[in-house]
Amino acid sequence: LNKFELEELQQKALKALEESEYKYRVLSENALVGVFLVHDEKFKYVNPQMANIFKYDNPKEILQLGSFLDLCHPSNHALIKEIFEKILNSKDEALHIEFSGKDKYNQKLEIELLASRIEYQGKTAILGTLFDITEKKAKDQIIRLLLTGIKESPVAIIITDSKGKIEYVNPAFSKISGYSKTEAIGKNPNILKSGEMPEEFYVNLWETIKKGEAWTDEIINRKKDGSLYWARQLITPIKNEHNQITHFLGIQEDISEKKKLERQLLQSQKMEAIGRLAGGIAHDFNNLLTVINGYAQLLLYSSSEDDPNRKKVEQILQAGEKAKSLTSQLLAFSRKQMRQIQKLNLNKVIEDYFPMVQSLIGENILVEKQLSSDLWTIESDKHQIEQILLNLIVNAKQAMPEGGKLTIITRNVTLNEEFISENEGARSGPFVQLSITDTGVGMDEETLKHIFEPFFTTRGVGEGTGLGLSTVYGIVKQNDGLIYVTSAPGHGAIFDIYFPKADGEDSQTTKAEQSSAEELFGSASILLVEDDLDVRNLISRSLSYFGFKVTAARDGKEALEKLKESSKKFDLLITDVIMPNLSGQKLADMVHQSHPELPVLFISGYTDNELKSVPEKELTNFLQKPFSPIDLAKKIKDVLNG
Ligand SMILES: Nc1ncnc2c1ncn2[C@@H]1O[C@H](COP(=O)(O)OP(=O)(O)OP(=O)(O)O)[C@@H](O)[C@H]1O
Ligand SMILES: [Mg+2]
Repeated sequence: LNKFELEELQQKALKALEESEYKYRVLSENALVGVFLVHDEKFKYVNPQMANIFKYDNPKEILQLGSFLDLCHPSNHALIKEIFEKILNSKDEALHIEFSGKDKYNQKLEIELLASRIEYQGKTAILGTLFDITEKKAKDQIIRLLLTGIKESPVAIIITDSKGKIEYVNPAFSKISGYSKTEAIGKNPNILKSGEMPEEFYVNLWETIKKGEAWTDEIINRKKDGSLYWARQLITPIKNEHNQITHFLGIQEDISEKKKLERQLLQSQKMEAIGRLAGGIAHDFNNLLTVINGYAQLLLYSSSEDDPNRKKVEQILQAGEKAKSLTSQLLAFSRKQMRQIQKLNLNKVIEDYFPMVQSLIGENILVEKQLSSDLWTIESDKHQIEQILLNLIVNAKQAMPEGGKLTIITRNVTLNEEFISENEGARSGPFVQLSITDTGVGMDEETLKHIFEPFFTTRGVGEGTGLGLSTVYGIVKQNDGLIYVTSAPGHGAIFDIYFPKADGEDSQTTKAEQSSAEELFGSASILLVEDDLDVRNLISRSLSYFGFKVTAARDGKEALEKLKESSKKFDLLITDVIMPNLSGQKLADMVHQSHPELPVLFISGYTDNELKSVPEKELTNFLQKPFSPIDLAKKIKDVLNG
């Protein structure tokens, strides 16, 4: 080659070099990624995008930095140094990492870096390209959080496509519905359809969400195992940027437990309200019946055997007595029945009472008694237990017109958490259980819902009043007990009653008293306090009829005055329990301050906690309205004779 040719070649080479350098410079200067060259820990070249990423005004500022580490977050210094050494010294010439950088203003940046070893001006240097992934990382973090949230969420989350095909379900969905992820995906959410909701319900649901609106309601769904559950459900359409629905998001919470509690509350409120109504009516009827029956009895007493009106009076009394037993059943239901509490052995009550009902049962019914021999004591009123037995046994008999088997079981049970979870309103602890089972016609669900309501009956007109089970229910509740029924049409019925166990031994005493009419007459002087005029007049007359001397007062205040004024010494105070201003109990307390020895006889239509504080012994000095003049005379004898 001559000199000319050589020069020409050199020129060409130079031009090519310039051209290629230019090309690369253009490329690098305009690249959307950061490009840099590091040698001896210092930046030798950085492109404008590098400056952009790290918020420097221009590349030059970066070139003036003391070390490449000035662009790294302090927490990453060791890591980056190590990596750069590795690139420089090992055979692995390229590395791909993410690290935390730092911009001009010391703000942390997330960087993705590709670094490799190159030869640069005869030395080994590092060429790097990098991106700012701060935003992407933040988004990833949020997505990760959302995913964890959805996975851990206690509510079920379902995502379907716009046609309703399930694309995603979270673990809570599987837990609530019983369908695993693989079983659910690809299916339609109507796998949960229970058939319990009307068709319009679903039509309305689809119309709402197809319009692009959110839908929410409570719904009964069916689990994979066929059982039903209540869910609060929310469905929202998910739209794309063109406002088209691409997916639906469903959120579902199992509210079965809440529904159950609501139902229980409603049921107990209903029974409470009916009880108050029944109690109120019974209270007023008692006063009226005391008057009606009382005068009828007085009329009968004073009329001669051949009196032409005697039959009519007897009719009045008969009807009155029936009305009396009705009101007493209503009182039992409203838990306002006066009780004479004692420690009882349930077996003994059953054995004593059973002969009385045996004749009712009939020959075609087999009776089996399984009475546990070491039964715990309960605390109750013997008469109330007998009412329970009578009502349940009569119902059982009526359920078995063709005959069958009646079983009476008693046993000790300790109710546990498992029992509580399965039986509404139950509580744990030791109880004495009474089960009365029949093999009769049984009951359907609708009947079972109402049997404890007063006047609910499926019997024909005149055949049943529908007060039997409401009486039983009231008594059980008044005794802090529990009652459950199990039954199905054609499969008989089981009534389970649980009485709380009482401490100590039973104190059953049998007290037989029979008094002949003559014994009822007396001469004691009695202070009578009663606010109802008719009742006051009746009692006064009855007492006079039996020879007693009566001073009547219409309330506590007047009674106290009469007691002070009167020169007479009273032998007995008879007072109504519930009166305006001063209750019978308070009056008795006040009277006892000046006359500690004066016996008191309480009379009342119902008790309504009024006598809660009275000692048990004194409760025997109580007469429940309506009572007949004879009942009253008998009671007075009892009280006066101690
Ligand atoms: N052992 C039973 N088997 C089937 N059904 C029963 C049984 N016990 C009660 N029932 C149903 O419950 C209803 C209510 O019973 P409840 O004892 O309260 O009233 P009743 O028996 O109809 O009337 P009453 O007891 O006042 O004479 C009955 O009418 C009957 O339908
Ligand atoms: Mg009955």
